Amino acid sequence: MRGIILSGGSATRLRPCTKVTSKQLLPIYNRPMIYYPLNTLLKAGIKEILIIVAPERAGDYLNLLGSGKEFGAKFTYEIQDKPKGLAEAFIIGENFIDQENVTMILGDNIFEDDLSKEIKSFKGGGKIFAKEVPDPERFGIVEFDKNRKAISIEEKPVKPKSNYCVTGLYIYDNRVIKVAKDLKPSDRLEYEITDINKWYLEHGELEVAMVKGEWIDAGTFDSLLRAQNFAKEKMQGKMII
Ligand code: G1P
Repeated sequence: MRGIILSGGSATRLRPCTKVTSKQLLPIYNRPMIYYPLNTLLKAGIKEILIIVAPERAGDYLNLLGSGKEFGAKFTYEIQDKPKGLAEAFIIGENFIDQENVTMILGDNIFEDDLSKEIKSFKGGGKIFAKEVPDPERFGIVEFDKNRKAISIEEKPVKPKSNYCVTGLYIYDNRVIKVAKDLKPSDRLEYEITDINKWYLEHGELEVAMVKGEWIDAGTFDSLLRAQNFAKEKMQGKMII
């Protein structure tokens, strides 16, 4: 299993705090934000990790994280020139992923759960993690039938069919590279991870697990503030880095 942390973008919503640095390097209590998703991958035993960053911040990431040796891992870096969507990570990461399966986590996502069992037991297809949220218009949303089987996924729907958000951790088999390459950009001109999930769903190969503990996408000022307190109160004992 290879790991990817997608940490690109310009985070204009967090200006001026992101004018001279990357969102995912902002402090969340006593650690840079990216330490939390990195912790999730390292805990699952993933040692080969690709960190995808925006060009103007690449040096900062290298200074902070280095080769990975300090973390018992090997880090590779790639540039995402423009924020063209989450799914582009699998195209940028094609050589790095090679013939392996891949777990991707977003650099601004903080999971309380230890997901190592879910990651280690992955056999094939696609696996995503859902969490009930009060503001479904902000996310990818998965709809279930009465047997809890996923039946649809939509990106930031105006009229959400459920409150179950697709969180920013995705596990796929090696076919994801080809699926990503065949995507067409969406109306907002991005290669959508939701379209990859739809592909696996349509092929009957998408597993949707539930996130039990707390989860935060720290992409807005309010969620950033919540993340600070959550990290202080709930995450300290769960960090191995
Ligand atoms: C992205 C995805 C969305 C997902 C969310 C999780 O949204 O497009 O499907 O629910 O991450 O954090 P973005 O943060 O790019 O708005």
